[in-house]
Amino acid sequence: MSITGFNTSSKSNSGDPRRKVTVSSIQQKKQRQERITCLTAYDYATARLVDEAAIDMILVGDSLGMVVLGYDDTMAVTMEEMLHHTRAVRRAVKSAMVIADMPYGSYHADEDGAVKNAVRFLKESGAEAVKIEGARIELVKRLLDAEVPVMGHIGLTPQSLHKMGGFKVQGKSLAAVEKLMKDAVALDRAGVFSLVLEGIPREVATMITAEVNTATIGIGAGPDCDGQVLVLHDILNLSFGDAPKFVRRYADVAGQISNAVHSFKSEVEAGVFPSEDESYHLPKETQSALETISERKRAMRR
Ligand code: KIV
Repeated sequence: MSITGFNTSSKSNSGDPRRKVTVSSIQQKKQRQERITCLTAYDYATARLVDEAAIDMILVGDSLGMVVLGYDDTMAVTMEEMLHHTRAVRRAVKSAMVIADMPYGSYHADEDGAVKNAVRFLKESGAEAVKIEGARIELVKRLLDAEVPVMGHIGLTPQSLHKMGGFKVQGKSLAAVEKLMKDAVALDRAGVFSLVLEGIPREVATMITAEVNTATIGIGAGPDCDGQVLVLHDILNLSFGDAPKFVRRYADVAGQISNAVHSFKSEVEAGVFPSEDESYHLPKETQSALETISERKRAMRR
């Protein structure tokens, strides 16, 4: 640590050998053509595992609403819920960059309110950046003026569910491709440090990735983006229902939890859990004192 307070080693503070991921390291990865990894997480345990696996960025997505809180879509998630879960993630993460997703309604009414809400994420939850959906160019500039790094998000933006008329792949017509390209370039110029491209044809994502300086992070946008993001619960088979075609399931955690819970139930019911080894025992002296007392009581009753 230098006298100015800058961590000149650029390693994380805890003695952990992994480097702290920052806006600059994400940009460097794009320049070096190194693929960037991002996963969602919403709690201490999973965020810790994701961080320890050296994933570059952890997004506390508003998908929280669907995969953890059981809402039908992402629109109902509140600022307080997002702050609460971002804090839990923050406590777990040492190296990855933590990004908080601004929930629907927290940046849609007016820019002053949006800046205040974004600042809350940095100040009250320890997020290092926020993500906003759509090409809100003036808002991105306002956020950067307030020292808040911004991840953009275009294409299939779940907070526009009703306007889009459902979760549909975007950018299929020439006009739609042009609009996506225009929005991506405008967000890039406005200064987003990365840009999520969701649910768009691979060819469009490839063109955007080649055109912009910012790192593109794809989800359902093909393999040519600078990085990929997925919802953690989707890759673990913990999100219930059919997954979209771009999801690859890397584990069946739902199956494992279900097996473990069934085994617990049957072992308790059969009286084989807990075992002798899984029980605490009295110290010998206390045990023999208790036996003496019981013996005396029995003798008095005779
Ligand atoms: O909320 C979310 O999880 C997202 C993604 C980009 C996966 O916005």
